[in-house]
Amino acid sequence: MTELPWDDLRARAAHRTELGALLVADALDVVSGLPSASVDLVVTSPPYDRQGKYRDGRAYGRDWYEGFFLKLTAEVHRVLAPHGSFVLNYRSKRQGSERGVLQYELVFWLREQGFLFAEDFVWGKPSPPPGRFNRYLKDAVEYCFQFAKSQRWQFFPEQCLAPARWDAADRERRRRLPHNYERVSEPSGHGRRRVQAGPDLVRPSTLLLHEPEFAPNPTGHPCRFPVDLPAFFIKLLTTPGQVVLDPFGGTGTTAVAAEALGRRWLLTEADAGYAAVLPGRLETGR
Ligand SMILES: C[S@@+](CC[C@H](N)C(=O)[O-])C[C@H]1O[C@@H](n2cnc3c(N)ncnc32)[C@H](O)[C@@H]1O
Repeated sequence: MTELPWDDLRARAAHRTELGALLVADALDVVSGLPSASVDLVVTSPPYDRQGKYRDGRAYGRDWYEGFFLKLTAEVHRVLAPHGSFVLNYRSKRQGSERGVLQYELVFWLREQGFLFAEDFVWGKPSPPPGRFNRYLKDAVEYCFQFAKSQRWQFFPEQCLAPARWDAADRERRRRLPHNYERVSEPSGHGRRRVQAGPDLVRPSTLLLHEPEFAPNPTGHPCRFPVDLPAFFIKLLTTPGQVVLDPFGGTGTTAVAAEALGRRWLLTEADAGYAAVLPGRLETGR
């Protein structure tokens, strides 16, 4: 692992804490200047294709993904540590009567860049915002694709166990099963460390249920993460003190999550207006 040049990054930052720095800057300019193997996790949501709702008025279509975005992901691959992961939150918009397929093309493009396609998490929104569609239902899911730098990607499910939802009888049965409890390697050397489940807590699944961010939004940013979404991946894929990068920082949600979890963080965001809310959010933790 190489250390990030924190003194330099902090000096250039619009907002900084002991743990991190937010640069109001172009993501590619900053990430291409970072040392190789200096980041443990990249978690981000780029502007979705053809959204056109940002203050810069740009549409961020397929050409932007084929050009700018792939240059950035090549740099992301370079700056990740061998145990690192890149979590990409993305959802293709409809194109007429067909669901856009860029979300699937991105998977193949990133594999060609050398990433290992480790997992496709689905972010389900129990109460999605209402839509005005005649022939389609409300879109209540987005993908969070996990790409790993190598086979050796690190993974800490014990840091994000979720409440078990079995009925009382099943909980009682599970209480009697020793393999459901955390245990360390057997003295014989056989048996792996397991954190499969307990009677009350279990490994989370790949279905992540989080409401969209409904909190007041003075910036008018069109699509913010709920804090719990980056927090889940930070807990699953890093340990305290490790480095999290979000190149499309928006209103700084990844920094809010990383700060609360004691990880170091680096964000870039092109729009100073969106970035300006971060200090207030860090104070409240929301
Ligand atoms: C989907 S939003 C991220 C929202 C963020 N996850 C949050 O919770 O607020 C994508 C962001 O990327 C920013 N962006 C677009 N192009 C960029 C670039 N070249 N460098 C840095 N940020 C950029 C946009 O201004 C927008 O805020």
